[in-house]
Order: sequence, then structure tokens, then C-alpha cells
Amino acid sequence: MANSFHGLPLLFMATLICSAAAQNGLTFPIRHDPKTSQFYTTFQMGSKPTAVTAVVDLGAQFLWFSCDAYSSATYAAVPCGSAACDLARGIGCVGCNGPARPGCTNDTCGASPFNPFMNVILSQGYYEDTLLSGGAVAARRFIFSCMTNDYLVGLARGATGMLGLARTAISMHKQIADKTGRPDKFSLCFPAAGAGKLTIGSRQSEYSGPLKSTALIINPVSTAPIYTEGDASDEYFIGVSAVAVAGEVLPVKSSYFTIDKNGVGGTKISTIQNYTAVHTSIYKPLVRAFNKAAADRKIRSAAAVAPFTACYRSETISRGGAGAGELNLPAIDLILPGEDVYWRIGGGNLMVEVDRKTSCLAVVDSGRRPRTAVVIGAHQLTENYLEFDLVSSVVKFSSSLLSHNTSCSRI
Ligand SMILES: *[C@@H]1O[C@H](CO)[C@@H](O)[C@H](O)[C@H]1NC(C)=O
Ligand SMILES: *[C@@H]1O[C@H](CO)[C@@H](O)[C@H](O)[C@H]1NC(C)=O
Ligand SMILES: *[C@@H]1O[C@H](CO)[C@@H](O)[C@H](O)[C@H]1NC(C)=O
Repeated sequence: MANSFHGLPLLFMATLICSAAAQNGLTFPIRHDPKTSQFYTTFQMGSKPTAVTAVVDLGAQFLWFSCDAYSSATYAAVPCGSAACDLARGIGCVGCNGPARPGCTNDTCGASPFNPFMNVILSQGYYEDTLLSGGAVAARRFIFSCMTNDYLVGLARGATGMLGLARTAISMHKQIADKTGRPDKFSLCFPAAGAGKLTIGSRQSEYSGPLKSTALIINPVSTAPIYTEGDASDEYFIGVSAVAVAGEVLPVKSSYFTIDKNGVGGTKISTIQNYTAVHTSIYKPLVRAFNKAAADRKIRSAAAVAPFTACYRSETISRGGAGAGELNLPAIDLILPGEDVYWRIGGGNLMVEVDRKTSCLAVVDSGRRPRTAVVIGAHQLTENYLEFDLVSSVVKFSSSLLSHNTSCSRI
């Protein structure tokens, strides 16, 4: 009797603590590497927590990092044919001639970690270990893959891996959701300076200001470097239907904005492409309209600096547009379905300073046959708050936080 009486409040407390923890998301800092323009985060892995710095890749399927210096008592290979291997959609069974170490094991579920900056895919295995956030256990038996130091070329200084946030069963947010009961949601805020954040599994928005929302669209054909026929893409596409410059819709055929049966066309969000890249048939009218709207504001043109074609004399661009100190430029709007729904790209998100005197429109021409007509790049995501809700399959976005007088390092 006495035992069960004492047991009850304890049980009750444990339930309370669990649900309180599940309300809050896990937060990871995001920093910008100016040399590569990549955004990266840091977390810990293993029994004697090892810090791992990984480049954030919205389009990548899983976490991988170099296991060359990795040592942990809780790490294990994912066996071929296991439930975890099915979940990871492992490709075959891999072995290694030894000596045995993390990344060199036999009978291991096959993975294909991809370094997009080197454009190489390795044949590797899947492993599991504890993932920690700020020293606290975030998820046990978290599935990842190993690389070796030879294949880290092109990554931001200090980064030894890439963090996959695509729509897969083993992306970081999905594994944390499955293992902790948090909702499958995450938010990203890429800082221009200081520390931004990646939040996983939060029930509330990290940003309390106005957000617009649009449905995530499934591209029926995979955009991954290796895939099985019939696989859909696990990248994030949105239904942009038109582009406007300074309020005027560009004359572009609507078919570029839709995804055809071969998975060609449409708009996706990429965190590893520097600049927004658009089909030539969108690029040409975009630059023409932007040049005209810039001239209307007495912004003077300058000689083009590749890969950009629309460049301006920086001293002729005034400040104090929307938000303190923002560049005063015509806005580019990506028009989305619904009443008054558009993603506004303005101010610093539009310009890149190529030298002390010249700034260029930070959009590039992806040619006449790009797989995806519009790829929104990292420069355009900077200082924007984005919230991916995979439960409702929507993405919410703020446009520039600077125009709302805040920033990624302050929310
Ligand atoms: C991105 O920008 C960095 C620095 O400007 C450059 O080194 C890198 O090659 C660029 N990457 C791409 C894919 O354009
Ligand atoms: C894998 O098996 C082969 C053949 O039995 C063996 O030579 C090799 O050392 C094993 N590798 C590891 C990492 O244990
Ligand atoms: C923006 O922030 C600055 C300083 O942080 C403040 O002085 C100013 O009043 C704010 N403006 C608006 C419109 O909130």
C-alpha cells in the first residue's frame, strides 16, 4: 500500500517532465562560413560526446561525417536486413577489409553518402549512435553514415560532414520526431552575422512576427544523386506560379513553374546553392525588369561581373528601405497560391557585393534545360525565418527579418 502510494506521484512527475520536454524543440546554432558561403551547425555524437560540425543541407537524405577520428562505446553498425536498414532504405550489404573501426565493418547496411561540393558518392555503411544537443541526449541509436577525411573537400572550414534535412525517414528531424514524440517540424534561420538557429520538433514558432504559409509540393521524380526508379523527390518544392519585380508580373510561360511527369520544372529551396538560379526564360525578363526598376530609383549600372549580369554602382544604392539600414531596392516577389501569398525578396537578399564599388543582383542563369526552373538559394534565405511542418506539409516563411527590425541572431 505504502509503495504504490509513493509510486504514484513519481510516475506523475515523470509524465509531466516528459511532456514538458516534448513541448520544446531542440536548438542547434547555425553559422555562416564566408569563404564557402555555407551554413553549418554543431552537435555532439557518442558515448564521450564528440563535437561534429556539419554543413546544413535541406536536400540531403541523412547525416554523414568523417569517422576517421571517431571513437565511441555506444556506436554500432546497422546490420544488413535489420529494421533500421529497411528504414534507411539501405542499398545492399557492405564489408571492409579492416582493421575494424567506425566506418570499417562487415555485414553492414549499405549507404551512399554524397559530397555535393566534390560531386562524389561513396559506398559506405549506416551506423547508429547517440545524438546530443548542448550536452543532453537528443536521440539514441541515431542513424548516420561515415565518410573519410579524403572526401571532405569543399566543405566549410572545420566541417567534417553534412546534415541532411530532406523529407526521408532518417533525416535529423524525422528521427528525432520518431524517437522523442515531438512533431516532425523544424525551423531554419540563416544568419548574415552571429549565430542563427536550427530548431527541431518545436510545437511553437520560434518567431512570433508575421509568417506566410504555402503547401510543400511533391516532385514525383527523385532529384537525389542515386535513387530507385519510381522514387519521388525528397527535396522541398513549393508552388510558385509567377515572379513579379517591383509589383509587375514578369511575362513568363506558366509551364516553367509546374513540375512535369519527368520531374522537370517547378521551384525548390536549396541551402547549398549560393544564389537563386532560374531558367533562362525567367532570367532574361527578370534582369530586364530589375534594371528598369533600379534605373527608376536612380541606381546606376556597372560592368557585369560573372556569374552575374546585372551589376550596379554601390554608392548609388540608398539605405533605409524596409527596416533600419536595409538597401533600398525594387523587390522580387515569388507569387504563391492563395490570396496575397508571396515570398518577398528584397534588400540585402538581392545584392552581392563583388568589390568595394560594385553590387550585383544575386540571381544566376541556370540555362535552357535546368532540372528545376527556380532554385531558391542560400543568399536569398539569409536572415529569413523558415519553418517546415511535415505534419501538415507546409512551409511558413517570414521574408527578411531585417525588414521586421529583427534578425536570426535575435529571435
Ligand atoms: C559559393 O560561393 C563561394 C564563395 O563566394 C564560392 O567559393 C563557391 O564556389 C560558390 N559555390 C557555388 C556552387 O557557386
Ligand atoms: C571482414 O571479413 C573478412 C573476411 O572474413 C575479414 O578478412 C575482415 O578482416 C573483416 N573485416 C572487419 C572490419 O572485421
Ligand atoms: C527598430 O529597432 C531599433 C533599435 O533596435 C529601434 O530604435 C526602432 O524603434 C525599431 N523600429 C521599429 C519600427 O520597430
